[in-house]
Amino acid sequence: MRLLITGASGLLGLNICCVGTEQNLDVIGMVHTRGLQGTPFEIIQGDLLAMEESFAQIEAKQPDAIIHCAAIADLNLAEKQPEMAYRLNAEVPGRLAAAARNWGIPFVHISTDAVFDGEKGNYQETDPTNPLSVYARTKLAGERAVQAANPNALIARVVFFGWSLSGQRSLSEFFYNHLGAGKVVNGFTDIFFSPLYTEDLAEILLEMLKANLTGLYHVVSSESISKFGFGVRLADKFGFDSRLITPISAKSLNRGAQRSLNLILNCGKLEKALGHGLPTVDEGIEAFYQAWLACYPQKLQGFQDIPT
Ligand SMILES: NC(=O)c1ccc[n+]([C@@H]2O[C@H](COP(=O)([O-])OP(=O)(O)OC[C@H]3O[C@@H](n4cnc5c(N)ncnc54)[C@H](OP(=O)(O)O)[C@@H]3O)[C@@H](O)[C@H]2O)c1
Repeated sequence: MRLLITGASGLLGLNICCVGTEQNLDVIGMVHTRGLQGTPFEIIQGDLLAMEESFAQIEAKQPDAIIHCAAIADLNLAEKQPEMAYRLNAEVPGRLAAAARNWGIPFVHISTDAVFDGEKGNYQETDPTNPLSVYARTKLAGERAVQAANPNALIARVVFFGWSLSGQRSLSEFFYNHLGAGKVVNGFTDIFFSPLYTEDLAEILLEMLKANLTGLYHVVSSESISKFGFGVRLADKFGFDSRLITPISAKSLNRGAQRSLNLILNCGKLEKALGHGLPTVDEGIEAFYQAWLACYPQKLQGFQDIPT
C-alpha cells in the first residue's frame, strides 16, 4: 500500500510515517516549513493552504490512502490566527476528503477530543459536541466538512503523547525534559484525558484503515487519568522524583485558550469493531519508556533538517 501522510514533521504524522515504514508500507510524508532529512520514507514539501498546487502534488504520487494529520494544533496560535486555523483545520480537510473521494481512495481525518466541553466525561461518538476554543471549533468544523464531502471517510478523534522531532512537542516530553533536569513543574489535577502512545495510535490507525472502517471513532486509551497523575506515573517509570510535580487546579490559572476539563472519551465502539481492547495509560507509558531505551527519541530528532 502506498500511504500518504500529511503533517509528517508533526508529533503524530512522523510516528505514523515510521510505523508505516516498519510495516513495509510505501510511505510518503508531506511536510510544510520543517524539512526532514535521512528518513527511511519519501518526503514531499508543500503548503496545504495552496490547495490547488499541493493537491496536485499529492495526486501525482498516486497514493492508495491518505492519513491527514496536518493542522494548526497549537491552541494559542489558533486563537491568534483564527482565519488561518479555520482554513487549515476545516476547509482543507473538507476539500482533501472530496479529492480523495474523486481519486477513489480511503481518507483518514485526524480530529480531537477537544470537540467536547468537558462537562460530562465518558463521551461516546453519539454525544453532542460543544467546543470551547477557536482550535476546537475549527476542528469540529473540519469533521463536518469531511463528513459532508466524503461519507466513507474515517474520522478519528484522538489524544496522544510520545516522542517528537523537536523533543519538545508532547506532554510526555515536557515531563521527561523537566523532571529529568530536576525542575519543578505543575500537574493539573482537574484535567482528565485518555491518551494513547503515538506508536500505538499509529498501529491502531493502520489497523482501522486495513479493516476498511469508515465513520467516526474515538481512538483513545481504554483508561483515563488526570494530567497530574500522568506526570507521576511517567516519573515513576523513569525513576524521576515525582514530588517535583506540584498538584494544581487548571481552573486557578489563566492559560490563554479555554480548555475542557473532563475529556474522558469512551473507546467501546472501536474496541468492538476491532475485536480487541485498546492499550491502557500504563501500557502506553511502558511503550514510551521502551522506545526511550531503544533510542527512538534520538532516531526521530536525527531527522531534523538543520540548515548548515
Ligand atoms: N497534539 C495533541 O495532543 C493532539 C490532541 C488531539 C488531536 N490532535 C490532532 O492530531 C493531529 C496531529 O497533531 P500534532 O500534534 O501531531 O501536530 P503538530 O505536531 O503541531 O504538527 C502539525 C503538522 O501540520 C503541518 N502543517 C501546518 N501547516 C501546514 C500547511 N499550511 N501545509 C501543510 N502542512 C502544514 C506542520 O508542518 P510544519 O511544522 O512543517 O509547518 C506539522 O507537520 C492534528 O489534526 C491535531 O489537531 C493533536
